[in-house]
Amino acid sequence: MFIKVLGSAAGGGFPQWNCNCANCSGLRSGTLQAKARTQSSIIVSDNGTDWVLCNASPDISQQIARTPALNKKGVLRGTAIGSIILTDSQIDHVTGLLSLREGCPHQVWCTPEVHADLTSGFPIFTMLTHWNGGLQHRPVEPLAPFSVDICPSLSFTAIPIQSNAPPYSPFRDRPLPGHNVALFIENRASGQSLLYAPGLGEPDAVISPWLHKADCLLIDGTVWQDDELLAAGVGRNTGRAMGHLALAESKGLIALLASRPAKRKILIHINNTNPILDERSPQRQLLTREGIEVSEDGMEIHLQGASQ
Ligand code: MLT
Ligand code: MN
Ligand code: ZN
Repeated sequence: MFIKVLGSAAGGGFPQWNCNCANCSGLRSGTLQAKARTQSSIIVSDNGTDWVLCNASPDISQQIARTPALNKKGVLRGTAIGSIILTDSQIDHVTGLLSLREGCPHQVWCTPEVHADLTSGFPIFTMLTHWNGGLQHRPVEPLAPFSVDICPSLSFTAIPIQSNAPPYSPFRDRPLPGHNVALFIENRASGQSLLYAPGLGEPDAVISPWLHKADCLLIDGTVWQDDELLAAGVGRNTGRAMGHLALAESKGLIALLASRPAKRKILIHINNTNPILDERSPQRQLLTREGIEVSEDGMEIHLQGASQ
C-alpha cells in the first residue's frame, strides 16, 4: 500500500495566516527549526498510480501542484484522484472539494451524518450539483468494509470515534457516532493495514481493537496539552472541547500509543501551537524516544507485506 501525506497540519495550517504565536512567528523569522505544513489530508493507493483522497483540505490546489503523481498523464483534462473519502465534515477536511469542481463528477464516500452537514449547514453537495454531476454520494456504513473501483485491493472500514461535530453543525457538542470516523485501510493482497484518525477525542472500546490491529497508525497529534490554545493566548477551546486528545496527558495519546504494537506510529493534524513542531524541542525529543514520528507534508509511507 502506498500512502502519501498531502497535508500534516490541523485547521489553519502552519504558519497560520493570522497568527504570531511563538511557533508561527519563529517559523516566519527562521529562528525555529521546523517545516511549514498545509492542512490535513492523505492519499492512498494499491498500485502507486490511482489514488484515493482521504479528506479534501482548503490547501488542495497547492498539495496537488507539488504531487506529480496526481497529474493524470495522456489526457487533456483529468486527475489520478479516483475517489474521495471523508472522515468528518470539518471545514479543514472538506473545503477542498470546492477547488475540485472542474473535475466533477467525483465519488465522495461519507457517512449519512457527514452528508447531512454537507447538504445543510455547509451545503457543498447541494452547490456542486451545478458542476457536471457534482459530488456523487457513496454512503459509508460504520464497521461495514467497502472498496472503491480504482483501488480494488484496498478494503476500507469506517470506525466511529469519539470526537466532536464541526462548530457550524447542529450536532456540535452532541455528535452522533457517524460524525467522526477513523479509516482502517487494509491491502487484501499484502495484509498490511493503516489506521487513519486525524480527529480522535477519546479512545473507547470500539476503536481500541483497531488501534491494536493496524501495522501503521496515522493519528491525531493536534495538541500537546489540553489547554494549549489558552496557554498560547490564541483561543479558549481546549483540545477535549474540539474533539482532540492531548498527547501529554496522563491518559493522553502518548500513553495510549505506548502499549500498541504498530510498526509505525505517526502523528498528523498537528496544530500550529504544538511544541512538537519545533524539531529541537524537548517534547519532540520525547516523541522520538517513544518511537512516535511526526508527519510532514510530502511524507511517503510504503507498507509492504512479508512476501513482497
Ligand atoms: C478541528 O479539527 O477541530 C477543526 O478543524 C477546528 C476548526 O474547524 O476550526
Ligand atoms: Mn481539523
Ligand atoms: Zn500560531
